[in-house]
Parts: sequence; structure tokens; C-alpha cells
Amino acid sequence: MPSEEPFLIIGASGFIGSHLLAHLTAQGIPAVGTRSRSGKRRGVPDLIPFDLDHDRIVDTVGRDFFASPRPVQAVVCAAVDNMDWCFRERETSRRIFVNRTCRLMDDLVSVGARPTFLSTCFVFDGAEGNYDEDHPVSPVNEYARQKLEVEQHLAAHAPQAWTLRLDKIVGDNPAEETFFTQWFRLLNAGQPIVCIADSVLSPTFVEDVAEAIRLGAVHRLAGVHHVANPEQFLRADLARLFCRAFGAPDHPVIEKPLAEFRFTDARALKSSLNGSRFARLTSLRHTSMNEVIQRFHARISAR
Ligand SMILES: NC(=O)c1ccc[n+]([C@@H]2O[C@H](COP(=O)([O-])OP(=O)(O)OC[C@H]3O[C@@H](n4cnc5c(N)ncnc54)[C@H](OP(=O)(O)O)[C@@H]3O)[C@@H](O)[C@H]2O)c1
Repeated sequence: MPSEEPFLIIGASGFIGSHLLAHLTAQGIPAVGTRSRSGKRRGVPDLIPFDLDHDRIVDTVGRDFFASPRPVQAVVCAAVDNMDWCFRERETSRRIFVNRTCRLMDDLVSVGARPTFLSTCFVFDGAEGNYDEDHPVSPVNEYARQKLEVEQHLAAHAPQAWTLRLDKIVGDNPAEETFFTQWFRLLNAGQPIVCIADSVLSPTFVEDVAEAIRLGAVHRLAGVHHVANPEQFLRADLARLFCRAFGAPDHPVIEKPLAEFRFTDARALKSSLNGSRFARLTSLRHTSMNEVIQRFHARISAR
């Protein structure tokens, strides 16, 4: 059941946004994307400069774009790429990633678009893990408090909007900066991989997230859904799986308590999400981490 509705991706130069744009385009679904004005990926071609802080989306894209007979699916991937920055620069972060983001959502609704917002597993405190959509929220840090405010704004003002919460997203492209790329560098340098002890996560393939967003539009999902690989890993076990795939089963993987990592703001220890409701509604099948790592390995070998 293809969705022929046009997509607008706010933040299409980023990790998830760029995969979503490519995924939709490959299926012949019309999609346009934005990048920030001042960001690090200014050189990405064919993206429309749009800055949450200064620009209004209807002026930027043009009112005609939203006059399509089918509602525009507007996916908001714009975000800060450093969680601790939200804590250090709380006022600025709040202005851009809460106030301006809510204004963007209101603008999208006012022209008949359906907003999709990407939120985080960190709206939970990380004490238990395997969180489903009914679990009470308790944001672990400032980044998550800001995400939750946008979620709540949508719930109050845009019942047709859809929020997906995500845990750690990974890819198979060695040219992209994910923790697989970081682990590969350490492996190559013969240096230990240091992991947060007892950290449990549900790492999810970025291509599966792109397909989930397409499916969410097809199924007209609204409210909050968790999109997460059903495989849950201790972080150190995922690192060991990675090392084995590279023929280095004895490479040192060291576990240290979260407190020793000295993050500026708090982190959730067990961030894993339960994505079974979404998977049931859409029949999305996730790619196993073993397969993602094998693909990563194949792309390294092909270089
Ligand atoms: N990646 C994960 O593991 C993960 C996990 C949970 C939730 N999420 C959520 O998923 C979304 C996408 O994440 P991502 O990893 O793809 O992020 P990303 O790679 O850092 O990309 C962020 C995007 O936002 C744009 N942007 C930044 N500041 C902006 C501003 N002021 N105005 C307009 N656009 C701005 C960036 O543009 P430039 O390229 O021009 O800077 C880029 O296109 C975020 O909301 C994130 O919180 C991600």
C-alpha cells in the first residue's frame, strides 16, 4: 500500500533525515528536504535552507507546496547533535528546540500538513528498560525534557500528529559517524572498547526507521509510538558481537559504571524501548543487529 502523499523532511541533511529522503525517493514517493542555514552540512545539494530559529516553513517552502490534494507528511528531524548542549545552553536550546519547534508544528497544522516528530527513549529515566507507550514518562535530562514538551504540545494542539520515540539508531555505512564507526576505529587501533556497564539498549537500523516513517504515514498513525528493534542488548555484548564479526573475538571490551563517564547531564542506563505495538500495527520487520554489522563489515571490506 504505497503512500503517494508528498513528504517534507525538516533536517534532511542529518543521519535519519538523509536516509529517509533517499528511502522515499527510491520508492518514487515525492519528497523534499531542508538543512539548517549554519550547520555543518551546508554543502549538501538540493536541500532547502531552513533555520528553526529564524525561518517560517510556509515562507520557505511556499504555500503552493502545501496546496497538494493529499496532505503533506512533514517529518521533523531537526535537532541538536549534542545532548549535553541542551543542558549547557538551556535557554537557547529551549528557544529553538521547544518554542520554535512548536511554532513549526503549528505552522504545519495551519496549512493542513500532518506533522511527525522524532522523540527519544530518554523521556524515561532508564531504571527499567523495555518501555512501552503506556509507561509513565520521567525525563532523564534536559534534552528529554525539551522533547517531552514538544510531544505534549502536539498531544494538546494537533491530535493528527504522530510522535515516534527512538532508542539508539545505527547504520551500515562506515562513512557515517555512529558507534559502529567509533568501535571500528578502536578495533583498528588495537585500543579497548569502553562501554557503560549494565546499559541495555534496543539498537535500531536507520533504514528500518525510514520504512517505519513511511508506514506510519500509510497507516495514518497518530499519538505516540515506539519504533525499536525487538532485540535488546547489553551495550558490551553488542560490542563483542561487533568484534566477532571483524574476526577479533578477544578484543578487549571494558565495562565501566555510568558515573565514571562524566557526562555533563544525566543519561538513561536502560534505554531500550518496546516497539511491539508499532510492529503489530504496521507489520514492520526489523533488521537484526547481526545483519547490520555484517553489512557494515562488507562495506569496510569493499573499500
Ligand atoms: N540518531 C539517533 O540515535 C536518535 C535517537 C533518538 C532520537 N533521535 C532523534 O531523531 C531526530 C534525527 O536525529 P539525527 O541523528 O538524524 O540528527 P542529526 O544527524 O544531528 O541531524 C539533525 C538535523 O537537524 C538539522 N538542524 C539542526 N539545527 C537546526 C536548526 N536550528 N534549524 C533547522 N534545522 C536544524 C541539521 O541540519 P545541518 O545538517 O545543516 O546541521 C540536520 O539536518 C532528532 O530529533 C533526534 O533527537 C535520534
